[in-house]
Amino acid sequence: MSTEDADRATSMRTSLCGRVGTDDVEERVRLCGWVARRREHGEHLAFIDLRDHTGLVQCVVDGAVDVRSEYVISVEGVVKRRPEGTVNDKLATGEIEIHDCTVEVLAAAEPPPVSVDDRVEADESVRLRYRYLDLRRPHMQRNMRIRSTINSSLRRAMERHGFCEVETPLLWSPTPEGAREFAVPSRLQRGSFYVLPQSPQLAKQLLMVGGLDRYYQIARCLRDEDPRADRQFEFTQLDLEASFVGQDDIIEIVSDAVADASEAVTGKRPDSVERMTWTDALNRFGTDKPDLRFGMELIDLSAVFEGTGVRAFSAPVVKAIVLAEGGTLGRGRIDALVDRAMGLGAAGLAWFRIGEGEGGGLSLESPLAAHLSDTERDGLLAATGATAGDLVLVVAAEHRLACTVLGNLRVHLGGQAVGDGPHRFVWVVEFPMFEGLDDEGHPIAAHHPFTMPHPDDVALLGTDPLSARSQSYDLVLNGWELGSGSVRIHRADIQSAVFRALGISVEDAEARFGFLLGAFRYGAPPHAGFAVGLDRLVAIFCGEENIREVIAFPKTQSGSDPLTGAPKALADSALKELGIRTVVPEK
Ligand code: AMO
Repeated sequence: MSTEDADRATSMRTSLCGRVGTDDVEERVRLCGWVARRREHGEHLAFIDLRDHTGLVQCVVDGAVDVRSEYVISVEGVVKRRPEGTVNDKLATGEIEIHDCTVEVLAAAEPPPVSVDDRVEADESVRLRYRYLDLRRPHMQRNMRIRSTINSSLRRAMERHGFCEVETPLLWSPTPEGAREFAVPSRLQRGSFYVLPQSPQLAKQLLMVGGLDRYYQIARCLRDEDPRADRQFEFTQLDLEASFVGQDDIIEIVSDAVADASEAVTGKRPDSVERMTWTDALNRFGTDKPDLRFGMELIDLSAVFEGTGVRAFSAPVVKAIVLAEGGTLGRGRIDALVDRAMGLGAAGLAWFRIGEGEGGGLSLESPLAAHLSDTERDGLLAATGATAGDLVLVVAAEHRLACTVLGNLRVHLGGQAVGDGPHRFVWVVEFPMFEGLDDEGHPIAAHHPFTMPHPDDVALLGTDPLSARSQSYDLVLNGWELGSGSVRIHRADIQSAVFRALGISVEDAEARFGFLLGAFRYGAPPHAGFAVGLDRLVAIFCGEENIREVIAFPKTQSGSDPLTGAPKALADSALKELGIRTVVPEK
């Protein structure tokens, strides 16, 4: 990890607590930090563990000193080797201690309401209420520094590739990212609102029309969507856009930047990142966010059950997964899996325990086993390759449903925590242009309405839009969508065809995105871009399950900030100035 500190000598300190070592023996040092622990040794001797962001060092203090936990002090003394038998291997500074100490209290502290010790579990809301204390915990210190390391390596990569950093507005207009937006009332134009950007999408496309050629930004984005492990209202993207490039150029640049970040944190560069089409990802892993750290791929049994007499399997598609040694799962757990599959929309979940059959063959144990023909039984065993002790789970449904239900079960049964184990990146390409239909029967843009269709599928926009593929691509890491992007439409005829397919009228398009479409009339270069979710990238590299752990001041699940009390009611005078009357729902 490149968090190696340069010498941080200032007018107040000569070194950092965690950096003092045997090279400094007999040197006089002055250190500053917080009192992590104080232990008395007899009446006239105290040991103080002094902590700063680099670690702990033990100070031996003669005489009485009035310091308690979390006091901010400075200690001046001489570095000595610890006496034999007292060396602490668990501490980086465990071979030395500071003697002949003069202690100066820089700030007293009340007893902290939340422990700053990593080993003590604390309630989430208390941690966030006292986030400034929580941030003192070594693991939060580490996370914040890894975040900074990743940010600077991404910045360096962008600069190396000739990208120009531009800051885009936060007070903006609606963006087409599909989430609910935060609105900001205008004081000067009462009754009108700015919208906080869901991403700099439209601004960066305008920068391309503006001839910037290659833009990037470590950009704050705001989306009013329910917070969860991989989502916050406020988050950060490494956002980029480039002119005169295609999909492969962007994939290459982003792969290089992310490899740099990986190398900066782990010391290792990931191998070249594999690519998979969206269709393959769905067929093999039942999701567009495949976790490649484990197998358990979906197996197609449609051919085995073609024209079957088993009602449960007469569906367009029959798919299966094999849980190795899952035959030991009891009925209670299997029933819970059936409920889970049905909760996801499947009509049912068939299961087969594979046992040793007579004559060395395999047997199937399942309420459905007796209904299968011999050919179906043999076909199922051959296609799945299941062996004695395994559990085979089968879903028969329409194609997408069968895949997604099994994809969900695959991760549920075989998956591991997102931050664990190796980092497996994968590019998912050729996403469909549209995803399902809205209430009025119009297709919904899978990425956003400015995404260029696949060159072979432009004609499908008018005839069979749901089959059209796009030139959009996602980067996936350990089952999380890390980022996404696309080649943009820069031609008016294709843009009109997409708006038509989406059911967006010319007037509507003008009202919503007129400023962008207007700009395109003055010479738009072909362009493409991408945005990496920085919080997600950092969380995975920190081994965390929730992006809150890598954000200095995150919101809770219910969207509040226990530290400041936000969101809060505004004073009547402020509301009046903004021309706003609030209607508070009755409790
Ligand atoms: P998209 O909406 O897919 O694309 O967002 C890109 C990446 O941003 C991250 N992300 C989030 N992270 C935390 N909390 C959230 N609420 C949240 N929402 C999104 C994800 C996601 O992959 N303008 C396009 C990009 C482009 O086409 O260039 C965009 O924003 O990691």
